[in-house]
Amino acid sequence: MAFRNNMKLVIMTLVVCALLQNTDAEKVHVVGGDLGWRIPLGVPIVYDAWASLQDFNVGDILLFNFTNGEQDVARVTKEAYLICNTTNPISLKKTSPANFTLDTAGDYYFISTLDQHCLEGQKLAIHVHGSGPSPAPRGLLNYTVGDKLGWLVPPGGEIAYATWAYGKTFIIGDSLVFYYLNGTQDVAVVTKEAYEKCETNNTLAVYTSSPTRIILKTTGEHFFTSTYKHHCALGQKLAINVTSFNGTALSPESALSPTYLGPSTSAPAPFSSAPSMVICGYMVTLLSIGLAFII
Ligand SMILES: *[C@@H]1O[C@H](CO)[C@@H](O)[C@H](O)[C@H]1NC(C)=O
Ligand SMILES: *[C@@H]1O[C@H](CO)[C@@H](O)[C@H](O)[C@H]1NC(C)=O
Ligand SMILES: *[C@@H]1O[C@H](CO)[C@@H](O)[C@H](O)[C@H]1NC(C)=O
Ligand SMILES: *[C@@H]1O[C@H](CO)[C@@H](O)[C@H](O)[C@H]1NC(C)=O
Ligand SMILES: *[C@@H]1O[C@H](CO)[C@@H](O)[C@H](O)[C@H]1NC(C)=O
Ligand SMILES: *[C@@H]1O[C@H](CO)[C@@H](O)[C@H](O)[C@H]1NC(C)=O
Ligand SMILES: *[C@@H]1O[C@H](CO)[C@@H](O)[C@H](O)[C@H]1NC(C)=O
Ligand SMILES: *[C@@H]1O[C@H](CO)[C@@H](O)[C@H](O)[C@H]1NC(C)=O
Repeated sequence: MAFRNNMKLVIMTLVVCALLQNTDAEKVHVVGGDLGWRIPLGVPIVYDAWASLQDFNVGDILLFNFTNGEQDVARVTKEAYLICNTTNPISLKKTSPANFTLDTAGDYYFISTLDQHCLEGQKLAIHVHGSGPSPAPRGLLNYTVGDKLGWLVPPGGEIAYATWAYGKTFIIGDSLVFYYLNGTQDVAVVTKEAYEKCETNNTLAVYTSSPTRIILKTTGEHFFTSTYKHHCALGQKLAINVTSFNGTALSPESALSPTYLGPSTSAPAPFSSAPSMVICGYMVTLLSIGLAFII
């Protein structure tokens, strides 16, 4: 079993790394490359990794390659994507190759509507640029939530995390890193409603192991709190706005505090190569951990 999973990891690492070679020129994006569209067993991040290496522009075609009868693909809303809601998608295609023309700029969300496929990671979110490749205003950042305060019930109440987020620019691909004492805090991803009402029984995801790193994959508002009793009401809550790359220029604060996600901090690489290296590095690390168990 372990060996089987490790083999999958090996294959997927190779697939993802191979994709680095030819991501820019094509107008037809074959989702997942050679892997195609399937449940990404063992590596749920595979479609995020794939998407982060692509440059989607208006007019491009997204091609889902899958086995008829075993898979399908639906374009859905962001809300449906987040919770894997398969009811009433915007459109549904059951025959491969399923093509979607990216006819307007913005965010697109796709899931499989079959069984538990979406929950197991068969889902894709992409951002389509206006026309022509958009400039990358900066490298990707890891933001430490609350900086030195970390993630806890803030002494000053709710204003603490609002102040922290104020003036920061979050773009797709940036990460939030929550530091806390295991067992005394958690990180709950919630909807706006749950955030506002502190309805912490209603979460999209909960993480309990520090540090928790959450990669921001979609534009718009994102809400975080804690499921621990009273923590939300006492102000352990964070709301941020994520923009796409074409967003505004780098603000000085966000440039200084976190480190750049590039091969070198002095000369941040353009987006197209920086995350590729990191993802490959990440996969290779996973891979070596995996191999360490086999050997
Ligand atoms: C779809 O997948 C099949 C089987 O893996 C492969 O032979 C075919 O070339 C793929 N088509 C595209 C357009 O990538
Ligand atoms: C799923 O989507 C359908 C159709 O948009 C909606 O009626 C339903 O309330 C959604 N379910 C959940 C749990 O959000
Ligand atoms: C999907 O796009 C590919 C590549 O352009 C093309 O070969 C194929 O015929 C298209 N399929 C459909 C159903 O439009
Ligand atoms: C970024 O792109 C989106 C979608 O194309 C567009 O609505 C928005 O106005 C753009 N923002 C800037 C600052 O160019
Ligand atoms: C959460 O709790 C509130 C009140 O305690 C209740 O009204 C609501 O239905 C619960 N929501 C869920 C999803 O269980
Ligand atoms: C929290 O727990 C995880 C695994 O459960 C562990 O890897 C991590 O080091 C722990 N963090 C701290 C700060 O103790
Ligand atoms: C996000 O931006 C929108 C539009 O500018 C604004 O209405 C909203 O309050 C912002 N939300 C957060 C959490 O900053
Ligand atoms: C962000 O955190 C991840 C995971 O710890 C790490 O691999 C990556 O190098 C970090 N990026 C930066 C820019 O520090």
